[in-house]
Amino acid sequence: MAKQIRTVGVIGLGTMGAGIVEVFARGGLTVIGVESTEEFADRGRGILTRSMDRAVSRGKLDEAGRQEILDRITVTTEMGDLAPADLVVEAVPEVLELKHEVFGRLDGIVAEDAVLASNTSSLSITAIAAPTKHPERVIGVHFFNPAPVMQLVEVIHTLRTDQAVTDAVRDLVTGLGKRPVVVGDRAGFVANYLLFGYLNSALTMVEHGHVSREDLDTAMRVGAGLPMGPLTLMDLVGLDVCHHIGDVIYGHSRSPLHAPSSMLERMVVSGRLGRKSGRGFYSYEGPGGRDVVADELTPGEDAESAGIRTVAVVGDGTVAGELVARVEGAGYAVTHLTDASGDLSGVAAADLVIEAQEEDSAAEDGAAGRDVDELFAALGEAARSGAVLATVNTYSAVALAAISGRAEDTVVLRVHAPTGNGQVIEVGTTHTTSAATVAALRGFIRGLDAEPVVSRDRTGLVVDALLMTYLNDAVRMLDEGYATVEDIDTAIQFGLGYPMGPFAMIDHIGADEVLAVTEELFSGTGGFAQHLMPSPLLVEHVLLDRPFTQGASDD
Ligand code: CAA
Repeated sequence: MAKQIRTVGVIGLGTMGAGIVEVFARGGLTVIGVESTEEFADRGRGILTRSMDRAVSRGKLDEAGRQEILDRITVTTEMGDLAPADLVVEAVPEVLELKHEVFGRLDGIVAEDAVLASNTSSLSITAIAAPTKHPERVIGVHFFNPAPVMQLVEVIHTLRTDQAVTDAVRDLVTGLGKRPVVVGDRAGFVANYLLFGYLNSALTMVEHGHVSREDLDTAMRVGAGLPMGPLTLMDLVGLDVCHHIGDVIYGHSRSPLHAPSSMLERMVVSGRLGRKSGRGFYSYEGPGGRDVVADELTPGEDAESAGIRTVAVVGDGTVAGELVARVEGAGYAVTHLTDASGDLSGVAAADLVIEAQEEDSAAEDGAAGRDVDELFAALGEAARSGAVLATVNTYSAVALAAISGRAEDTVVLRVHAPTGNGQVIEVGTTHTTSAATVAALRGFIRGLDAEPVVSRDRTGLVVDALLMTYLNDAVRMLDEGYATVEDIDTAIQFGLGYPMGPFAMIDHIGADEVLAVTEELFSGTGGFAQHLMPSPLLVEHVLLDRPFTQGASDD
């Protein structure tokens, strides 16, 4: 079975279906698009023409090329027109009965050796295939949104899929210039399984009010270097789709990491579906719009202030030295106190005092460092009223606020390494931190040419809490035999556009560092959150000092 694929059918011409039609037609195949009504067929034609027009206006395609692609596409409302198709991909709504109906009808229309594929992102391919006449020709072909842009296509085989069908579809996908990853039929396949654990953790943070939507997105786009923040991405995918996929994954994993978010459910029920409805986490210029417009949650002008002009840095190590140079370079007046145990009167004029001792030096006898509790008690006395006190070390904001007696003005700062999208400096606050302190710190961080992310001071703040949980989850997935290191890395890099896959990232950061933060996150919950428990395989890699990726072991 599985002859060469030259003519393909696509059923359902919504965003994904129309995108898939475009991919096939651009790849030189003859495409038959089927919709249920003339109105939907017109909508599908509209999506296709707009996409082609955009390509022409951006100089990616000339007029003749545009016409050639459109000439390969027929849009119809007759399923019977699919008779000549060698492959049919369905992209109808995610309802099992609907898929069964479509595949049942196709059994009577297409040739015996035609391949039947589903673009489902959540339903089991096995369940879709079960009642069909020839389950051996049924396969999953899962594209990522936007289909014309994202390179990954997951090819999902069931226990019954004919190997020749899998090979033919994988070769077809490769021929289209996409990256196929061939995987078994497990909930969420590869990319969504990892993605939705991360999205759910992100949702919990906004739902708890620990971070704003803008700061959450900045944390992951800029701080972690991802192409989009989690909320922007959910608005793109559609909150109804996210809700459905999340439910299905939770149904299989039963892990609190995937537990359905009640906030997401409320948004879906209220019709806030993301870009397609014009409102999701953000507001758009209209249904289907790409550009965000201001709404009642958009931060006002008073969210940032120029309240910080003079800065004192306490500490004599490299971290303090680099900080002094950076803050001075940004035009602030800086006092550098290298002896934390000595006279602290130099901080009296500062609007912001930053503790930046080498973390070990404070504990060493005879070093210029000083116990951080003692230091913050002294800074509470020495700093002027209203000055902001901060540490760049991993201490607790609430403990330092209590010790310094400055509940409104004491925070933690976390300076992240720059990524391809810029640099984030996180601010960890307590519930007593004042709006003036937050505004002054936002202004100060922008002055350093970095982007501020303000959140409640919980273990890992935003970037590490989300990133490390995701990395640990990837190791757990590997340990559970979902897919190989290479396939998981390819799926994430090319399906979600991350700069690298999770295993390349773990090797880049250092598995020991990932384990250390994961252990902190786990113990931060008192050991109750089992889903945060470090994966035993991560522990193995650290103890045996083995990288996950081939590239890293060659170094
Ligand atoms: N449809 C079609 N093309 C689009 C598009 C859309 N919605 N959005 C952007 N593009 C195209 C642009 O036209 C542009 O094309 P050219 O380079 O040919 O001119 C290109 O993509 C880059 O776009 P922009 O410069 O406007 O924006 P960008 O650089 O920020 O990239 C992005 C946009 C490609 C979407 C990028 O932000 C990204 O990779 N985001 C991650 C998306 C992602 O994770 N997708 C997977 C979601 S999960 C899923 O789909 C699975 C599921 O089952 C739900």
